[in-house]
Amino acid sequence: MIRIGVWLGDRNEDRDWIARLATLIPGARVEGLAEAVPDTLDYALVWAPPEGLLSRQAALKAVISVGAGVDHVLRVADLPRHLPILRTTGPDMVQRLREYVALHVLAHHRDLMDTDARQARAEWQVFVTPTANRRRVGVMGLGRIGAACAQTLAALGFDTAGWARSPRDLPGVRTYGGEAGLAEFLDRCEILVCLLPLTADTADILNAGLFARLAPGAAVINAGRGGHLVEADLLAALDAGRLSGATLDVFRTEPLPPDHPFWRHPRIRVTPHIASYVDPDSGARVVAQNILAFDRDGTLPDIADPGRGY
Ligand code: GLV
Repeated sequence: MIRIGVWLGDRNEDRDWIARLATLIPGARVEGLAEAVPDTLDYALVWAPPEGLLSRQAALKAVISVGAGVDHVLRVADLPRHLPILRTTGPDMVQRLREYVALHVLAHHRDLMDTDARQARAEWQVFVTPTANRRRVGVMGLGRIGAACAQTLAALGFDTAGWARSPRDLPGVRTYGGEAGLAEFLDRCEILVCLLPLTADTADILNAGLFARLAPGAAVINAGRGGHLVEADLLAALDAGRLSGATLDVFRTEPLPPDHPFWRHPRIRVTPHIASYVDPDSGARVVAQNILAFDRDGTLPDIADPGRGY
């Protein structure tokens, strides 16, 4: 029998996930991670678990992240370091991100913030924006999700580049790799999309120095992690007109506190970490398949490398 404990914290979906997994994995015992008797579980399915929950389950075979990122697991101080961490991606997660990236790149491309501001003033002002083939966009992070998003932008006609830690080929996308390729990649970006994993190397990467390299008046979209962005640097770059706008889905503190300046900034659009979502319906199917495959032979393509951080 496979025994699974679930902790989704403030997502408040533990019951849904428990019910879905119990149906999808016949014979499994699925319960709340906090309620489970110590040392009785094989798998812990988590989002941002607090300290104490994982270390008291000494029989765990793996921890499963309800998401593509594993930073929320790796930062648990008493995480048993030997445990494999399984990432959860899958077609719905990739599709949701493609939609989010297309929507917000198009919004910046077609100056939607200015259009909204003019509507609020009942101001009719015709303006023409360049077509997508004359707009240079760039995606940072070219894993399964980033690659799909970059190719979506290329398919919309954008002049699309991608940057990743190690160089890779992507049809229809001009790619740059590593520290050496970063400056050249940034220099050409009018709209920058960050989809990087959060690691020691990528923390604070969206900072004043990076903004200064982008095309003047560039826009930034962050659907990676809040820890990528130096918040004060973004506010300064927007207020100086160095950047024209930002769309932010992820924040250093989530939920974003009500008095945070991002909420009311006229050049910032805030979305509440919904660019993508591993939902209890289709997401549970991916998790169930991953658990069954991993339980069979202890391998899976989507295992994070804690040393690398993703
Ligand atoms: C969402 O942020 C994820 O890691 O999948």
